[in-house]
Amino acid sequence: MNILIVGSGGREHAIAASVVKSSHADKIYCAPGNAGIAKIAECVPIGAMEFEKLAAFAKEKNVGFTIVGMDDPLVGGIVDVFEKEGLTIFGPRKNAAILEGSKAFSKDLMKKYNIPTAAYETFDDSHKALEYIDTAKLPIVLKADGLALGKGVLICNTLEEAKAGVKEIMEDKKFGSAGNHMVIEEFMTGREVSVLSFVDGKTIQIMSSAQDHKRAKDGDLGLNTGGMGTFSPSPFYTKEVDAFCKEHIYQKTVDAMAAEGREFKGIIFFGLMLTEDGPKVLEYNARFGDPEAQVVLPRMKNDVIEVMQACVDGRLDQLKLEFEENAAVCVVLASDGYPLSYEKGFEIFGEETFDDKDGYYCFHAGTKKNEDGKIVTNGGRVLGITAKGADLKEARANAYAAADWISFENKYMRHDIGKAIDEA
Ligand code: AMP
Ligand code: GLY
Repeated sequence: MNILIVGSGGREHAIAASVVKSSHADKIYCAPGNAGIAKIAECVPIGAMEFEKLAAFAKEKNVGFTIVGMDDPLVGGIVDVFEKEGLTIFGPRKNAAILEGSKAFSKDLMKKYNIPTAAYETFDDSHKALEYIDTAKLPIVLKADGLALGKGVLICNTLEEAKAGVKEIMEDKKFGSAGNHMVIEEFMTGREVSVLSFVDGKTIQIMSSAQDHKRAKDGDLGLNTGGMGTFSPSPFYTKEVDAFCKEHIYQKTVDAMAAEGREFKGIIFFGLMLTEDGPKVLEYNARFGDPEAQVVLPRMKNDVIEVMQACVDGRLDQLKLEFEENAAVCVVLASDGYPLSYEKGFEIFGEETFDDKDGYYCFHAGTKKNEDGKIVTNGGRVLGITAKGADLKEARANAYAAADWISFENKYMRHDIGKAIDEA
């Protein structure tokens, strides 16, 4: 059947690369896509938030299955629009995507169903939030309630910073309407792990674990970004951690959503922190991580369409997810200056080196083809270079070797992606 993928980043390129291998995929479309996705799918210039146009396109092209990579369209209700038109689509409906769309909702859900997370309070009035801060323990974490491109989280070490943060979020609306409500929560310490899962409303199946590197600079310094690199599996995600999360977090979350009348189908991404008191949920996302997808999907043995179709049909219990017994590392090549200001439009060289190499992937994020037909940089995160290896160390060495195959004028990357592997 024909497949439509909605999104334009490295995650959607990784999804497309898995879909290409599916025995159920005929023609693949991606809206809007990017220059890398265009090599394996037909990119169509429709924005991810143009639900009616996307649905009309899916009907016109006889698309049998649509996959949504991004959070905004899911939270905005793309799944409801497609379903109303009788189209099959993979992802949570609007009333379930709220698991990512509202931090206040997800914190209240965890509290109500006793799912371990940081202690917190929610506020819709800045004065009350400021009063609370006067009595709270430092450091303290402030979160704008809604989607804020991963930037709506402030970790404040002093009272002054925290007060300024509340004003920025709730009064100056630095993150827009995401700041109409906010969550103030306890600061936790520990190692972070990303666990992605497939969910069919009742059953949940966990994918291989991963770890992201969110800060821009080596040594976890610099500003928060969308993610500068990942590795999978995480050696810190032990059997004990897995057993704890299976008992206290995963199924409980799926059951809680169902009990609330918000049946969740699609991907739940658990952002976990492994604290001294055990694993706790930092956040939920309702989609694949970016760049987690770039290290998890290439290691999945199943036919991705079969798994997603089983989620839509509510028969995930009949399937067994299988991952290769190896490892993968993704190093993001960014434009120097990201996440603040950076130049773009530079020609990218060296991509063809990946063409004949198994286990190496050059996933495009911010790229485009210019008027001369050349592939140029077109965003902050430009490429995600993924390599597999027999183990994490080999995968890391391979990924960094492959990162050197690419050149463009203001290429920037972290040099310590996967450094934590040495401490495992
Ligand atoms: P979130 O978008 O909620 O995942 O937050 C972004 C990042 O902020 C996380 O990946 C953590 O590194 C950090 N963070 C969020 N909440 C906390 C917390 N309660 N304690 C410590 N760090 C946090
Ligand atoms: N890599 C983190 C995220 O996708 O939210």
